[in-house]
Amino acid sequence: MSPQNPKINLAILGATGNVGRKFLEILEERNFPFVSLKLLASEKSSGKKIRFKGKEYTVEPAKKDSFKDIDLVLASAGGVISKELVPYAVKAGAVVIDNSSAYRMDKDVPLVVVDVNNDDLKKHKGIIANPNCTTAQLMPPLKALHKLAGLKRVIVSTYQSVSGAGKAAMDELTEQTKEHLSKDSYKSKEVNRQFAFNVIPHIDAFSSDGYTKEEIKVINESRKILGLPNLRITCTAVRVPVYIGHSESVNVELEKSVTREQIIEALRAMPCIEVIDDPNNSKYPMAIDTAGKDPVYVGRIRPDNSNPNTYNFWVVADNLRIGAALNAVRIAEVLLKEQLIKALA
Ligand SMILES: NC(=O)c1ccc[n+]([C@@H]2O[C@H](COP(=O)([O-])OP(=O)(O)OC[C@H]3O[C@@H](n4cnc5c(N)ncnc54)[C@H](OP(=O)(O)O)[C@@H]3O)[C@@H](O)[C@H]2O)c1
Repeated sequence: MSPQNPKINLAILGATGNVGRKFLEILEERNFPFVSLKLLASEKSSGKKIRFKGKEYTVEPAKKDSFKDIDLVLASAGGVISKELVPYAVKAGAVVIDNSSAYRMDKDVPLVVVDVNNDDLKKHKGIIANPNCTTAQLMPPLKALHKLAGLKRVIVSTYQSVSGAGKAAMDELTEQTKEHLSKDSYKSKEVNRQFAFNVIPHIDAFSSDGYTKEEIKVINESRKILGLPNLRITCTAVRVPVYIGHSESVNVELEKSVTREQIIEALRAMPCIEVIDDPNNSKYPMAIDTAGKDPVYVGRIRPDNSNPNTYNFWVVADNLRIGAALNAVRIAEVLLKEQLIKALA
């Protein structure tokens, strides 16, 4: 099989979810090459029809034997399902790009953000992990600044959209907003949180040290992706009533003294970053403008005058794209190009 004309049998695990539907959208946009496509979800969606590239596909329930003859799996059905099914996909000969947290910190599993640590893909043994959405958009600017002047310490505060909590949370925000404005009574269905008109400093479960699992993911995943196991980094993760687009306020202390201009130049040198930083004309990245777009947007770049060699900036991206489906599809494209899929080797 030639890498120019790869004959990939593709499966999407979790095809009916937020990330799964984005996979389909992005595969179509980027004209990802495949010869067959299998859409897998829970029993609940079995038989559901999904149109893709002018053809109708029937969703099948995901089972241990669903991966026969599959070369590549894009998985986004959550950690429990990934733990259960991904080993069967790998055993059947497929390479799995997994969007859940199940394998991210496994030492044998590369955790990759394209343009940041592509070389790690060469070490894969069947599973490649896609980072948490909050980590993914943080990596390109941190990598650029580390290359420029060395990272000494990083403080991240996030403003995360409800789409990061799945489709049910987006529906919940709509219903809660309607209820709040109409004063009709509405009982939260699946997500027991007041998203509408609220800011919640709690994403995922709390651990005994007072950090949430989301915050710990940002800390540990950043260290792994950047190859800096001792990086001093801390995080506060917050949910805000926004449908799509995570925003992050980042404070970075650098090893060396650099100018704002050098920082902007280093950020612009990263292919996936777009700098929008024109405060005099009120131009800066905002979540509302990023939905459906590919870049990681950076703005509000300014020195932190309270500490030497330290800068503040603001990072925004579509969490369902760079934070999930786009990065996974871009990983798949690199695997194809570098012939890192078994069917191509
Ligand atoms: N949303 C983000 O920004 C983001 C970013 C990075 C990573 N992720 C991760 O990606 C995963 C999915 O997130 P999401 O936002 O797409 O969630 P979602 O909208 O709730 O979708 C979940 C998907 O998993 C499927 N599923 C559930 N139970 C299953 C089972 N027993 N067997 C097979 N499939 C099953 C669902 O199928 P049914 O429709 O049939 O229930 C659906 O297709 C999570 O691990 C999440 O942490 C999400």
